Amino acid sequence: MSKYQQEITRRRTFAIISHPDAGKTTLTEKFLLYGGAIAQAGQVKGKKNTRAATSDWMEIEKQRGISVTSSVMQFQYEGFCVNILDTPGHQDFSEDTYRTLMAADSAVMVIDGAKGVEAQTRKLFKVCAMRDIPIFTFVNKMDREARDPFELCEELEKELGIETYPMNWPIGDGKEFQGVYDRENHQIIHFTGHGGAKAATATQVSLGDPGLDTLIGERLHAKLSEDVELLDGASAEFDLAKVRHGKLSPVFFGSALTNFGVEPFLEGFLRMTTPPLPRLAGETLVDSMDDDFSAFVFKIQANMNKAHRDRIAFMRVVSGRFDAEKEVYHVQGGKKLRLSRPQQLMAAEREIIEEAYAGDIIGVFDPGIFSIGDTLCAPGKKFRFDPIPTFAPEHFRRVRPLDTMKRKQFLKGAEQIAQEGAIQMFKTPYTGMEEIIVGVVGTLQFDVLEYRLKSEYGVDIFMEGLPYEYLRWITADDGEPVKEENLTLGTDTKLVEDFKGRQLLLFGSKWAVNWTQERNPDLTFSEFGGAGI
Ligand code: G4P
Repeated sequence: MSKYQQEITRRRTFAIISHPDAGKTTLTEKFLLYGGAIAQAGQVKGKKNTRAATSDWMEIEKQRGISVTSSVMQFQYEGFCVNILDTPGHQDFSEDTYRTLMAADSAVMVIDGAKGVEAQTRKLFKVCAMRDIPIFTFVNKMDREARDPFELCEELEKELGIETYPMNWPIGDGKEFQGVYDRENHQIIHFTGHGGAKAATATQVSLGDPGLDTLIGERLHAKLSEDVELLDGASAEFDLAKVRHGKLSPVFFGSALTNFGVEPFLEGFLRMTTPPLPRLAGETLVDSMDDDFSAFVFKIQANMNKAHRDRIAFMRVVSGRFDAEKEVYHVQGGKKLRLSRPQQLMAAEREIIEEAYAGDIIGVFDPGIFSIGDTLCAPGKKFRFDPIPTFAPEHFRRVRPLDTMKRKQFLKGAEQIAQEGAIQMFKTPYTGMEEIIVGVVGTLQFDVLEYRLKSEYGVDIFMEGLPYEYLRWITADDGEPVKEENLTLGTDTKLVEDFKGRQLLLFGSKWAVNWTQERNPDLTFSEFGGAGI
């Protein structure tokens, strides 16, 4: 195998998803610790907390001390080159969070052992499931009182509609949590902690070992033997093909805080994941090993430096090798160009890079020419990767400029911001006065819109909350545009159009979505706008 092929084969690119507070940041940090990218845990988190003072991100981010965009990190572990895509939670949950999942080849889902499946896990899971990417579950916080592991697996299966296969099994929980039983090797991995800042020490003992009563205690030993028997009798067969198609989630137990179970998880999922996956460009499947470079833009981060109105476009390298010296072809712009200041986040530091390989994520300086979903490839090639879908917003406001004379600037600014993917804009061509409705996935984006329209376009806006929470793009069976008078709609449902001319309905409740679908059987509803991924 050439060096080039080796570099691609050893890459793994995954997104880490969870409900806020389940332990995503802590687990990510522990991966970096085990990968040797940081010497002591506490550095990344420290950075997160002091970010407000040190970063030159957007002003709004400084004011609130939170991160508006998702970040990407790279580290090395046992010969693998691992790219982690973080998916922001809390208030900064946005469409970017979903789009980040489009750049990953697999997902790590962190679940709080005491809470099980939570709202945000469900939403992110749905987007991963749509692409059938492998999903690995880490049941975290086993050092606290946790729910029964059988019950947790059952909940995952029922709530998310995916089969589960416990790769290991916890021995005790809370203060009694001592380690995990590795089902494949029939070994007990018993941990001794070192306060969480340093790696835990693992001792391996087989299940039949006579010393086990002393090591983990008679009661836990008896419980484990009983659980293992139940598991072997009841659970499904392990099937790697099902894992790779996102139909079966391998489940691992542990504690990111004390490091117990972190390394078995990291090893286990790196072993089961694949090198960078191919991507569709119409009829063509672009393979990571193709000789030529190609990439697609999945995120645009605006305004790193307000004075220059510059942006960073994040792209996923799909095939080949990226060489900072060479020109690439921007398909949508129809131009050859050299990507400037390509950078990557290594552990916690941003670095300018000279090369990158399929599977990697790079951020490049964008003078305003890139859009979400754009394709970059070697000069001479002209394929386009399938578009990234638009995700249904959940919050809606009617927006207008305070000064009616500034409507033009307002539209220009809002359209620009929508083009970057921070907000979605809808219009109401079916009512007398055309209104602009803005939809977002996370409410922070309204603040971003207000702030940016004022600071970059000099427009003050007035926003009025609308009672809609659900959106579905609609298509009629006959393919013709839908006429409002032909629809049966409830009072809390509104027909609008997006800026690509696609029609959609806004609903006040989930109930109204079902009600409307039943009464308008000729319509097809879609939660995602746009075609494949
Ligand atoms: P997130 O990124 O998913 O939002 O979660 P994060 O890692 O920030 O963790 C949320 C809280 O849960 C943190 O506590 C963290 O220390 C704690 N935590 C994470 N993993 C574990 C675990 O395995 N066991 C236990 N017991 N706690 C865990 P915090 O008090 O909010 O923050 P901090 O003051 O500890 O930094």
